Amino acid sequence: MTHSFAPGHGGASWSPETLRQLAPDLEALGAEAVIRWALEQFGPGLVLASSFGAEDMVLIDMLCRMTDQPHIFYLDTGLLFPETYALIEEAQTRYGFQAIRVLPRLSLDDQSARWGNALWERDPDRCCALRKVEPLQHYLAGKAAWMTGIRRDQTPLRRLAPVVGYDHRYHLVKVNPLANWSHKDVYRYLAKHRVPYNPLHDQGYPSIGCVPCTRAVQPGESLRAGRWAGQEKTECGLHL
Ligand code: ADX
Ligand code: SF4
Repeated sequence: MTHSFAPGHGGASWSPETLRQLAPDLEALGAEAVIRWALEQFGPGLVLASSFGAEDMVLIDMLCRMTDQPHIFYLDTGLLFPETYALIEEAQTRYGFQAIRVLPRLSLDDQSARWGNALWERDPDRCCALRKVEPLQHYLAGKAAWMTGIRRDQTPLRRLAPVVGYDHRYHLVKVNPLANWSHKDVYRYLAKHRVPYNPLHDQGYPSIGCVPCTRAVQPGESLRAGRWAGQEKTECGLHL
């Protein structure tokens, strides 16, 4: 990576405008270059948000090839699939990191007591706010940059996601190295590098979230049809 990308010394703060100008050049260099750039700029202030889905496994593999001190966290809603919890263990062993487990303020019992049972059925937006968005907000406070596995073709809201940009919601830099990758690109990488991934992906679950809000998709359905099926909701609110 040339130094023409650096506005000052490594780790200097990046303005939204500078990031906007930089994004196309970084995107042209590819996902690995984007991650390397982020590591150089932000060092330990860079954190990877991982749901241990297929995209996140690509990022974990790339990141762990570049540093032996990756900061990888997951939002543990308490409602993830057993296969997801097992993959977290497997990935930690394979790559030698300890993922940071970020928990909601309310346990599931506390949430039921305060908001009633199965809040996800009646008010999934509130449930996601309590179990994902608030914990994320809390965790990201004081961090320099977060990295995510979002891709532009996943949802209408993600269509304009840059590979790097300023996240005005959480007040830090957001890095999306796979923004321009396709679903196929992801699986090509996983196969080529023999990266472990969630076995549910091969059982009709291209996109995996919490158990109550994820179902298998039928042939011909979109890749995200199994998320909050039957509801208007397409995003958990982490990336709005
Ligand atoms: S969601 O909004 O529908 O739930 P999606 O499953 O597409 O998000 O994941 C997109 C990206 O958001 C992931 O690549 C990851 O970076 C981040 N993410 C989603 N869920 C979690 C989670 N439970 N913990 C940490 N990061 C997550
Ligand atoms: Fe709650 Fe469903 Fe959101 Fe998980 S995905 S936090 S269960 S509404």
